[in-house]
Amino acid sequence: MRQSPALTFSRVGHAFLGRSLFEDFDLAIGKGEAVALLGPSGSGKTTLLQIAAGIVEPVKGRVLRGYRRQAVVFQEPRLLPWMTLTDNIAYGLAARGEGKAARRRTAERLALSVGLEEADFTKYPAELSGGMRQRANVARALAVDPDMLFLDEPFSATDVGLRRHLQDLLIAAARSRGFSVLLVTHDLAEAVRVADRIAVLSGRDGRIAASRALAGRPGERSERAIFEQVEAWSRDPVFGELFSATERAR
Ligand SMILES: Nc1ncnc2c1ncn2[C@@H]1O[C@H](COP(=O)(O)OP(=O)(O)OP(=O)(O)O)[C@@H](O)[C@H]1O
Ligand SMILES: [Mg+2]
Repeated sequence: MRQSPALTFSRVGHAFLGRSLFEDFDLAIGKGEAVALLGPSGSGKTTLLQIAAGIVEPVKGRVLRGYRRQAVVFQEPRLLPWMTLTDNIAYGLAARGEGKAARRRTAERLALSVGLEEADFTKYPAELSGGMRQRANVARALAVDPDMLFLDEPFSATDVGLRRHLQDLLIAAARSRGFSVLLVTHDLAEAVRVADRIAVLSGRDGRIAASRALAGRPGERSERAIFEQVEAWSRDPVFGELFSATERAR
């Protein structure tokens, strides 16, 4: 029997101030599957992710959730300024009834796994660099042991080296824990590196303009294969509207 999906958008429609963003949006994400959602700026990617995560109620349609626990990584780290690094990472764990010492151990283990150092554990967000806050952001999401992870352009503000590191970390965590992923990104190379499948949201009617499965598994694709796939899709008309002159130049 086929497993039920982790997440299903069923004929979802949404509008802001009377302006329709999308109608009849359908997308299913399998358990353990990583889907990257691409689309031009303003096409509604963030709105879709927020609808999926239950942050925004859609005007029409339904979202079916076949997962138990979600975590969301926003583009802005959103750490609580009055809490230390490890307390921020452990924040979501209190609701799960874990004891204080266990929460701290989990937070410290995750902090180290994303490349933060022991000397940083008691620092407050204002004392951390942007990159360190971004690492903490990812650690905090993984701390709750989600089976569905939503990420909205999580690495776009980080430099290339750290971005690669966090992508690799995400791939490894998804593989070892088997969670599903919905990743919103502008970066086709990131999508090709991290995802099993790519969905492209059309800027015109808010439907999926293309859905493409990627060969091989995330983490097992060579740099050359990733580069060649990005090159090939960059010439594909379906992906055309993603690449305005400015984005192509990046
Ligand atoms: N709370 C809101 N109230 C009114 N309009 C909104 C609201 N949130 C988003 N919009 C509008 O909906 C459209 C889609 O926004 P959304 O943030 O989902 O796009 P996006 O695809 O994530 O864009 P980007 O790639 O720039 O992040 C935009 O035109 C935006 O101005
Ligand atoms: Mg957005």
